[in-house]
Amino acid sequence: MSFALLRTLGPYLRRYRRRYVLGFSILVLNVAVFSSIPYILKLAIDGLSHGISVGSLAELAGLLVLAVLARGLFTYWQRLILITTSRDLEFDLRNDLLWHLEKLSQSFFQRFRTGDLMARSTNDLSAVRNMLGPGIMYSANAIVQFVVVLAILLNLDARLTLIAFLPAPVIILSVQWFGKRIHDRFEKIQAMFSSLATRVEENLTGLRVVRAFTREPEEAAAFDRLNQDYIQRNLRLVRLSGTFTPLLQTLLGVAFVLVLWFGGRAVLARQITLGGFVAFNAYMVQMSFPMIAMGWVINLVQRGTASLERLQQIFRSQPDIADGPRTDSSIASISGQISFRHLSFAYPAADGSAGPTILRDLDLDIPSGKTVAFVGRTGAGKSTLMSLVPRFYDVPEGMLLVDGHPAPRIPVELLRRSIGYVPQESFLFSDTLRANIAFGVPDATEEQIVAAADAAGLGADVAAFPQGYDAKIGERGLTLSGGQKQRTALARALLRDPRILILDDSLSSVDTLTEERILEGLSAFAQGRTTLIVSHRISTIRNADWIVVLQAGGIAEQGTHTELIGKGGLYAELYEQQLLQEELAAV
Ligand SMILES: Nc1ncnc2c1ncn2[C@@H]1O[C@H](COP(=O)(O)OP(=O)(O)OP(=O)(O)O)[C@@H](O)[C@H]1O
Ligand SMILES: [Mg+2]
Repeated sequence: MSFALLRTLGPYLRRYRRRYVLGFSILVLNVAVFSSIPYILKLAIDGLSHGISVGSLAELAGLLVLAVLARGLFTYWQRLILITTSRDLEFDLRNDLLWHLEKLSQSFFQRFRTGDLMARSTNDLSAVRNMLGPGIMYSANAIVQFVVVLAILLNLDARLTLIAFLPAPVIILSVQWFGKRIHDRFEKIQAMFSSLATRVEENLTGLRVVRAFTREPEEAAAFDRLNQDYIQRNLRLVRLSGTFTPLLQTLLGVAFVLVLWFGGRAVLARQITLGGFVAFNAYMVQMSFPMIAMGWVINLVQRGTASLERLQQIFRSQPDIADGPRTDSSIASISGQISFRHLSFAYPAADGSAGPTILRDLDLDIPSGKTVAFVGRTGAGKSTLMSLVPRFYDVPEGMLLVDGHPAPRIPVELLRRSIGYVPQESFLFSDTLRANIAFGVPDATEEQIVAAADAAGLGADVAAFPQGYDAKIGERGLTLSGGQKQRTALARALLRDPRILILDDSLSSVDTLTEERILEGLSAFAQGRTTLIVSHRISTIRNADWIVVLQAGGIAEQGTHTELIGKGGLYAELYEQQLLQEELAAV
């Protein structure tokens, strides 16, 4: 357990400093009341052997009742404060975690799988909470009680106290030994749980694929193996922590036997009163609670720190792409001129090194307001190029310029706000159609939403939905057809009224004729905006101002449709193939 790791919780704990102080004050009162109980007992028993009056006995009995009631009240109060505080802390941590995740870059999500992140933000978070709530409370309780009771024991009979503490070194050593092992085993279990969660996540997301390929038995079997492993590891942990408490109890039992033997003889020798001996035993019982609780607390803390470390791995990850010292905050708007200068790009590999080169030495100037189409065989690097414009990945400074500014100089928020990006694979949220379209513009008016949907060619479809724009879209938009999903994503981008519109093959699921019609309709919208269109269908982009043919990450040729056809190169070849296909399809 490292101190530096726990320090990361400092800001959170400080926020609730007052409540912790109040909670601990009550805790101290609680211990004081609790440890007075055996002393009252001692007064009563010693009084009995000296002929105490009934009145005094009744007084002591009343005191005892009061002490017990006060203890109940304080225990309730202390729990209420300390445990609710840990819930509030958990709440803060969870919010910060999501907020942090939202900021992290694409490359982070290539390293951490969704299921793993889900596991960390649920299971690990509650292990940390258990450490901060019950963990802190019981350890404070145990420590205070230990110190108070120890002082009383020494005061009652120092020699007997030393005898009672003979098994202590063994207890301390075994607590350490078990603590470390519990930590290690729990760490492995949490990692296992992440794999389990990932498996569930992928199976649910890919349920259709699993069914279509009738892989249910294999998937279930693979899950079963993971699950078995998870249970086995948990059982191993249970066996470990299961032996811990009985071991502690046994060691404490030894202490009791020692006290009974030596204390009993002291009573016989009249070195200690009977009341003192009874009280001593009662204090020993009180003392064994902190000892046993320590075992449990150490368990909680070891789990908590193992989980905290897993959360810190997320918190330590910094977004690669964020405003920095080079950002020029005086840039307040974007007109939409884009330049690629000797642009080369490789995706970062999982270990941080650069992977194979995807784009090489690409030079291109796109004037503001023009429509440029990108075509090329699959895997040529079209989507990669498109994703560089909103800076999902960064390239060395100077390779990408927007309005003549190197991309890192433009505030990220401004750059992304100026871009309407429709990815190749659209993603819809489990919400209404309206909310999905208005995702980037929460305060959009109904007219604006309808206008965007119409421009995206979705209007007629919505009219056919019984609930219109209020239609709920299921998980991942299951109720919409592929083409409807794509057009919803397009409407979402149009609604933002962007300076730069990027359509990455975003109408691939609608038929050629509809794609042509939508793009034709969009030309009014595209007026004055820079538009980058990726398409596999040449017929749909031949009216673009400029066409760039990508091949293996470089520009193979560029020009207008007529020029490229005249060249008789790759573009002409692709075009001929497609014409032929269309003719065949028409037969
Ligand atoms: N996130 C990624 N990490 C690593 N490599 C990637 C990633 N995305 C794409 N690639 C690789 O980059 C190359 C270009 O992919 P890209 O998606 O840009 O092609 P594309 O031209 O858009 O193809 P398509 O027409 O099929 O959409 C491919 O070889 C692909 O394997
Ligand atoms: Mg692509």
